[in-house]
Amino acid sequence: MGLLLLKGLVAGLAAGTVATFGILTLLPASPQANALERAQAGLRQTTSGAGLGGLAGLLWGAAEQRRRRRNPWQGWRRFVVQRKHRESAEITSFELRPVDGGPLPRFLAGQFLTLELQIPGQAKPVLRTYSLSDYPGSDAPPDHYRISVKREPAPKGLDVPPGLASTYLHDQVEEGTNLNIRPPAGNFVLDSDSTEAIVLVSNGVGITPMLAMLKAALKLCPQRPIWFVHGCRNSDYHAFQSDVEALAGAHPSLHLHVAYSRPRPDDEGHYQSQGYVDGALLQQLIQGPAAYYLCGSPAFMDSLVMALQQAGIEPEAIRFERFSQAPRATPTTTATPVNSCEVQFCRSDRRVTWDGSNPEQSLLELAEANGVRPPSACRAGVCGTCTTRVRSGKVDYLADPTAVVPPGSALICIARPASDTLELDQ
Ligand SMILES: Cc1cc2nc3c(=O)[nH]c(=O)nc-3n(C[C@H](O)[C@H](O)[C@H](O)COP(=O)(O)OP(=O)(O)OC[C@H]3O[C@@H](n4cnc5c(N)ncnc54)[C@H](O)[C@@H]3O)c2cc1C
Ligand code: FES
Repeated sequence: MGLLLLKGLVAGLAAGTVATFGILTLLPASPQANALERAQAGLRQTTSGAGLGGLAGLLWGAAEQRRRRRNPWQGWRRFVVQRKHRESAEITSFELRPVDGGPLPRFLAGQFLTLELQIPGQAKPVLRTYSLSDYPGSDAPPDHYRISVKREPAPKGLDVPPGLASTYLHDQVEEGTNLNIRPPAGNFVLDSDSTEAIVLVSNGVGITPMLAMLKAALKLCPQRPIWFVHGCRNSDYHAFQSDVEALAGAHPSLHLHVAYSRPRPDDEGHYQSQGYVDGALLQQLIQGPAAYYLCGSPAFMDSLVMALQQAGIEPEAIRFERFSQAPRATPTTTATPVNSCEVQFCRSDRRVTWDGSNPEQSLLELAEANGVRPPSACRAGVCGTCTTRVRSGKVDYLADPTAVVPPGSALICIARPASDTLELDQ
């Protein structure tokens, strides 16, 4: 299939694979373009008697539709929840249609949307990112997007409120509610061009990008063996169970393995093993070269990445996405550490000191602690919402950025100062 190269090798380094590597963003172009060209040819035939002005208008309209299907919108676009439905005891899906009725751009399986939520009692809109959990089966561009959200309870033993956005989405966002949404984004995407087996591994709500990737793989490269390996507690917590079982029934190239950690007596027949998805299970299931895509809880991914590496899988063959902030390890660039830094948030006219005795404090946290509220969503270097121009000074990173970082800017949710003074455009 012809592919339209949209972006070259990115200047910044992209995390999300074990080894850091550049990412090419590719969008399938031809089916869409061909369909539109066919439509345009039809238009020309049926409008042959129309005046030149009318014809030009119709062609302009078709070209505009094509442009809008290919190019994401800029900034926020208003969507309406057209369907809300329960997928499991803790995951609910939201199908979203643009209020303006215009076309939706295609997306790459694995990408996410950023939502702006007006939550009562919150001084500012709350921004959160959610993976697209579906992928269109036909060549037509999508007429809606779907996200699937896990209700985040308060962590056990902590007297803190439950997840702000997920609780709001579950309890207060209903069919008919309008939400502002940014275009699909993200670099954790299925590479449909290579030839090896595809292994999609998830636990819990990590299934959302995996399901989109599964559907995309079956559509774009059905000749490749595909493994879909998922872990959850039991059938009460097993989202998309019947969808995935139906796909496995229809596609001999798809091998399904579900592990229940605490199966119910009547779950027999819906899972293949009892326990957790771990490195031993993957080694037992998968032989030969494969591209691994992982999404799930931090402990799940850390243990799997380590196990796969120990089993000799090349780092380039392991890709993963974190839904929550990556554990802060050693800063990833080689800038000389600083003891303290005078940070100027220029637009807010605030000058504060970043104290090297708390070396893991991000610039976003420093800003928030001092009354500056830069926009943020994932707080994990994934979505790019916190991208901030660095007017002067240097930063380094507490974790590898996954979002593309424009030159002269920083993802302040995972950045800290690497110079004695720093001027940020916030
Ligand atoms: C690229 C990407 C894709 C994602 N895709 C999905 C997806 O498909 N589906 C999905 O469900 N999620 C997804 N997420 C996660 C999602 O963006 C949110 O992070 C998630 O919904 C939790 O947000 P929240 O506002 O509900 O919780 P928050 O309010 O952010 O709270 C998170 C947790 O912290 C706890 N907490 C609250 N206050 C404190 C405190 N003082 N001390 C300690 N703990 C506290 C809460 O109880 C909760 O458990 C994705 C994230 C990323 C980065
Ligand atoms: S908030 Fe998402 S990259 Fe910083």
